[in-house]
Amino acid sequence: MARVAFVTGGTRGIGRAICERLVADGLKVAAGYSGNEAAAEACAKELGVMVVKGNVGSFEDCQAAVAKVTAELGPVDVLVNNAGITRDGFLHKMSYEQWSEVIRVNMDSAFNMTRPVIEGMRERGWGRIINISSINGQKGQVGQTNYSAAKAGLIGFTKALALENAKKGVTVNVICPGYIDTEMVAAVPETVLAGIIGGIPVGRLGKGEEIADMVSFLAGERAGFVTGATLSLNGGQYLA
Ligand code: CAA
Repeated sequence: MARVAFVTGGTRGIGRAICERLVADGLKVAAGYSGNEAAAEACAKELGVMVVKGNVGSFEDCQAAVAKVTAELGPVDVLVNNAGITRDGFLHKMSYEQWSEVIRVNMDSAFNMTRPVIEGMRERGWGRIINISSINGQKGQVGQTNYSAAKAGLIGFTKALALENAKKGVTVNVICPGYIDTEMVAAVPETVLAGIIGGIPVGRLGKGEEIADMVSFLAGERAGFVTGATLSLNGGQYLA
């Protein structure tokens, strides 16, 4: 029977590429989104995935979203914690809201989404949790104390959770994408972005599909021995 995947932030950017790939792999896929109805409709129509609205920063929303997906598609076998936002700015200019919003959406979300699915995965003896961190959680980035902290947090979360579930057939891994050609990266000031691309040894931004390929592997049967791993997909920009 087809496995069920839930991809947060699944209607745009890297998340959408992941959904497309998992559908092609034969999984039943649900894409979480928070507010962009047009992107959600397009995703549902073009990829044929279930779309579920909710704020990953809210535990109640995540519980409700998982319940909806379970009722419609079945228990979640593959969770991709991908949803993320930026609120860039130097710390000395950063508001508490800029800080806490990023921590809630990018890091608290890992607990909020994983807690409702992990017991079922353990009981069934199979599960895949794939967290999408960032190169900037590994190396830090000017203007991103909030984002770098949250993304680094996902790496620690992954390692601890992988150890807790290794004997239960549940693997937990984290991917750290570099700069990928998405709306989020396009929002970086042009001159700053030009400098960043200049520092990527392969000489270009990454593609969502390149992240999706790794998710596809980690979500599959053949990846059972890969757990607790931090995978850097960044065109050589940072060699962790
Ligand atoms: N390193 C060191 N100093 C820097 C710097 C850098 N990378 N960038 C800017 N500065 C310096 C500037 O030279 C300037 O110095 P002076 O005051 O001495 O002239 C000072 O910092 C202020 O610069 P700005 O006027 O540009 O400051 P700002 O407050 O308007 O903006 C910023 C600063 C928010 C950091 C802005 O430069 C920015 O948005 N940078 C991009 C940050 C980034 O890479 N975000 C990634 C988004 S994509 C993503 O997050 C996806 C992923 O996972 C990779």
